[in-house]
Amino acid sequence: MSLDAAIYSAQRTIASFPLPVYVKFVTVVIAEFIFNILYIISGGPSDAENRANSGIGYPTAKALAKAGYHVIMACRNEDDTRDKIAKLELETGLCGSFEFMRLDLSSFHSIDAFTEAFRAKRLPIHIFVANAGIMLIPTYETTVNNIETHFGVNHIGHFRLIMGLLDIIKASEPARIILVGSITSYLTTKIDYDYILNKDAYIPIYSYANSKLANAMFANALARRLKGTKVTVNSLHPGAVATELYRYIPGQYAVKQSHKVLYLPSNEGAATSIYLALSPEVEGMSGQFWSRESLKTHHNFATRVEEQEKLWKFTESLMADSEKGLR
Ligand SMILES: NC(=O)c1ccc[n+]([C@@H]2O[C@H](COP(=O)([O-])OP(=O)(O)OC[C@H]3O[C@@H](n4cnc5c(N)ncnc54)[C@H](OP(=O)(O)O)[C@@H]3O)[C@@H](O)[C@H]2O)c1
Repeated sequence: MSLDAAIYSAQRTIASFPLPVYVKFVTVVIAEFIFNILYIISGGPSDAENRANSGIGYPTAKALAKAGYHVIMACRNEDDTRDKIAKLELETGLCGSFEFMRLDLSSFHSIDAFTEAFRAKRLPIHIFVANAGIMLIPTYETTVNNIETHFGVNHIGHFRLIMGLLDIIKASEPARIILVGSITSYLTTKIDYDYILNKDAYIPIYSYANSKLANAMFANALARRLKGTKVTVNSLHPGAVATELYRYIPGQYAVKQSHKVLYLPSNEGAATSIYLALSPEVEGMSGQFWSRESLKTHHNFATRVEEQEKLWKFTESLMADSEKGLR
């Protein structure tokens, strides 16, 4: 068994122990650090510039443009995204390959407006990377549509967006849909519906874990629905990567210092997304979970068809209730 597979298997085992969720989280993260340190020592990344918290989306966009794709950068902050596009154009020498479109995944209105604006462009979608995410919001918060933010942005936002664009994706086949999940999904044994709806029982990492398990389950449910087409759907864990995802953790000075030595730079963290988007090796593979550019064992719960369908129905009814103002 490779070191990667051994560490991954140890993480899954630890995460299944009946321990407090934060104890499991810290243990899983330490296991990631061990892998990163060994990986870096054995000749892994030395790209100091990319340790500077640029986010996994940046190198992913760069790789897709370099492969010849027109990249829509669907982001909520226009100024920041336009700065990043200028930098990407400079670094790649590709002008006009990157395009900003406004998208706030915490708002149905914004998601629907994005879908409509994209539809008007009459462009195909060959690769869809659901990369956006939020983690460890310290206190209970909700989206514009009154859904707990981790679940609302990480799962519901992507669900609504992908389902809104699915006819275009299907008409563009071959196409690949990639959902950036996380190994933290193993910190929960199931989707905890009562917890998600309970405003008074909030544990940030548990909310994140539920949302990331939902990413993997949605990917599998959609892969099943798209069987027989040339549209594949996969989910992945990018590794422990030095990005702004950790912005809510107290003691940011220590967090940034730890990023320099214990976390992967963002270009390494993007490697699995890029692999699933571009590699001919994964052509036709669907409904799988990946990490470090290799196939990994899915969370048991994510493979259960009846649970995937329960999540699908829950998601649709939560959206419908929100739209009717029932939440
Ligand atoms: N970094 C890790 O160690 C790690 C580990 C496992 C999984 N992941 C997953 O990897 C993905 C990428 O995260 P990252 O590490 O690159 O973190 P990041 O640097 O914080 O990037 C996350 C991106 O999501 C965007 N976003 C957040 N809320 C949004 C919203 N409501 N609407 C639209 N965009 C929104 C952020 O936009 P703003 O810039 O406007 O905030 C940011 O561009 C996430 O899905 C995360 O869960 C990361």
